[in-house]
Amino acid sequence: MRAILTRIEQNPALDGVGDRLQRAVQATIRPQRVRDLLHGVLLGHPLHPALVQVPVGAWISAAVLDLMPGQRRAATALVGLGTVSALPAAIAGLNDWAALTRDQRRIGLVHAAANTVGLALYAGSLAARLRGRHGTGRALAYLGLNAVSAGAYLGGHLAYKQGAQVNQSVPELHRISDGWHPLADLAGLPQRRLVTREMDDVSVILYRHGDEVTVMLERCPHQGGPLGEGEVAEIDGHACVVCPWHGSAFRLNGGEVMHGPSGNDQQILPTRVVDGVLQARLP
Ligand code: FES
Repeated sequence: MRAILTRIEQNPALDGVGDRLQRAVQATIRPQRVRDLLHGVLLGHPLHPALVQVPVGAWISAAVLDLMPGQRRAATALVGLGTVSALPAAIAGLNDWAALTRDQRRIGLVHAAANTVGLALYAGSLAARLRGRHGTGRALAYLGLNAVSAGAYLGGHLAYKQGAQVNQSVPELHRISDGWHPLADLAGLPQRRLVTREMDDVSVILYRHGDEVTVMLERCPHQGGPLGEGEVAEIDGHACVVCPWHGSAFRLNGGEVMHGPSGNDQQILPTRVVDGVLQARLP
């Protein structure tokens, strides 16, 4: 199985379809606020894995009820719920997929194809059950469960092996030692400009506004872009740093994500000033 996954990750033959689909998704899912909603910006956490719980839960429950006598109506209702709720989950997944790296998009494409086959089988199952053909409906549902299980396996590979949509910056915290770390003389820090410093060997950005200074991890939670090379922009009245790679924006006075594709907030570090020296520590 690992060899198959590696072959998919490294297979450029998938890129023609993948690139066309990526352009179509980016042209269709608009405006930015809709994309942000689907990325999970309001949650500070990717939305797709949360939405997926509904169809998966409904379909697995239907599979159990299909094994029990007298549960046809309940099983049909659950197959219907799973089929309808799979659509928003799929749209959120496509929105995330369009901002992945090329090797992640290849696995994501096969993940989406398996789930599309599964969804079609469940739609067929629902139609058969509503016509009273419960044997056919059960058979199609079990085939659908196999397809979406394969899709789930690929989704797990995307997240846990390839790191798609997981927070890329937080592991940096594990490389910072305990205690306060001196970073800069406060008097020498420029106003409203990004300055990059190191805490142990972890890069952080400093942003001074009056006598308030924000210290935040530099590595973007989305795919590790260098926030220190980004721009400062005002978004909804808040000063934000905008990632130079794909445009995710994070509030400089709290780290909340304001625009995706990151669905994760950025980590802020506690600060203090001692004898004019700005210090920061682990949260
Ligand atoms: S690395 Fe993608 S938005 Fe920062």
